[in-house]
Parts: sequence; C-alpha cells; structure tokens
Amino acid sequence: MPIALCPGSFDPVTLGHIDIIERAARHFDEIIVAVIRNPQKSQSLFSLEERQDLLAECLGHLDNFRIEVFKGLLVEFAKEHGADSIVKGLRAVSDFDYELQMAQMNQRLTGIDTFFLSTSPQYSFLSSSLVKEVARFGGDVSTMVPPIVAKRLRDRYGEENA
Ligand code: PNS
Repeated sequence: MPIALCPGSFDPVTLGHIDIIERAARHFDEIIVAVIRNPQKSQSLFSLEERQDLLAECLGHLDNFRIEVFKGLLVEFAKEHGADSIVKGLRAVSDFDYELQMAQMNQRLTGIDTFFLSTSPQYSFLSSSLVKEVARFGGDVSTMVPPIVAKRLRDRYGEENA
C-alpha cells in the first residue's frame, strides 16, 4: 500500500497546496498531510489546531488522506507511519535548488524518495507567506485560498487591526 507524505507548514493552506494534494491522491493509496508543529520560518499566524482544521475542511472531498502533526525529522515521521514517499510541489526554478537538496538529504538519511509535481500554472506565484502579506494589507485573496481560509484571514487581520 504505497503511502505518501505531503508535508508543510500550511499557514494557511492555499489552493496551490490543495492542487498538489488532490493530484498526489490520484497516484497513491493514501496521503498523509504532515503538518509541522513549529514552522521554522517565523511565528505561525494560525495555531497548529487551526491549521489542521482548515486543512480538514478544505480536503473533505478526498477520501484517501489523513492529517497528522510532526516535529523533528520528516524522514523519521515517514518511517513511523509507513510512508514510502514524499510528494512536493515545484512552483518555479527558484524552488528547485532547496527542494533538490532536501530530497537528496532525505534520500541519504533513510532511502525515502521524493516525487515532485509541477504546480499548476495558475498557482505558480502562490505561497502562504505572500497570501498572508496581501491579506494583512486588505488585498483580495479569494482566488488564492478556499473561501473559509479567506474568511479566517479577514477575521484574523481584522482583529489585529481593530
Ligand atoms: O510549508 P513549508 O514551510 O515550505 O514546509 C517545509 C517542511 C516542513 C516540509 C520542511 O521544513 C521539513 O521537512 N521540515 C522537517 C525537518 C526536516 O526533516 N529537515 C531536514 C530536511 S532535509
């Protein structure tokens, strides 16, 4: 039963993430959406529970995924959960260097393989960080995230600016 991990911070989940998870779900028996407990990049906007809840809401139409939280090395989490593969989206050449390095390191550590899916062109500019920046200044992100995420961003930044 091939199981693949789709790991990330998901702070918050975007349409780009959903596109990759939906497409990965067609190629594997099960997808584990692996949410990192403490994103390294910065303090997360949404709590771990909020990030998980939003993912669950937005992926409810799929029947072969589950959401799990991890900390530490992704490859150790993969071993514990019987996942054979990691799936990542590649948006642009700028993603490639770092993603290749991580894939090779992960391969060296436990032999796990990483499969790259090319991001659908309409999402190639999309990142959670940019979405947050646009939303923070009141920009329209309704074509970039599911409606529930857009609402939660409005609520969150509304609270902050109140
Ligand atoms: O959504 P993000 O923030 O781009 O996701 C990055 C993530 C969580 C997939 C990556 O940072 C990761 O795999 N972290 C786990 C720690 C780890 O295993 N590091 C070694 C990778 S070579």
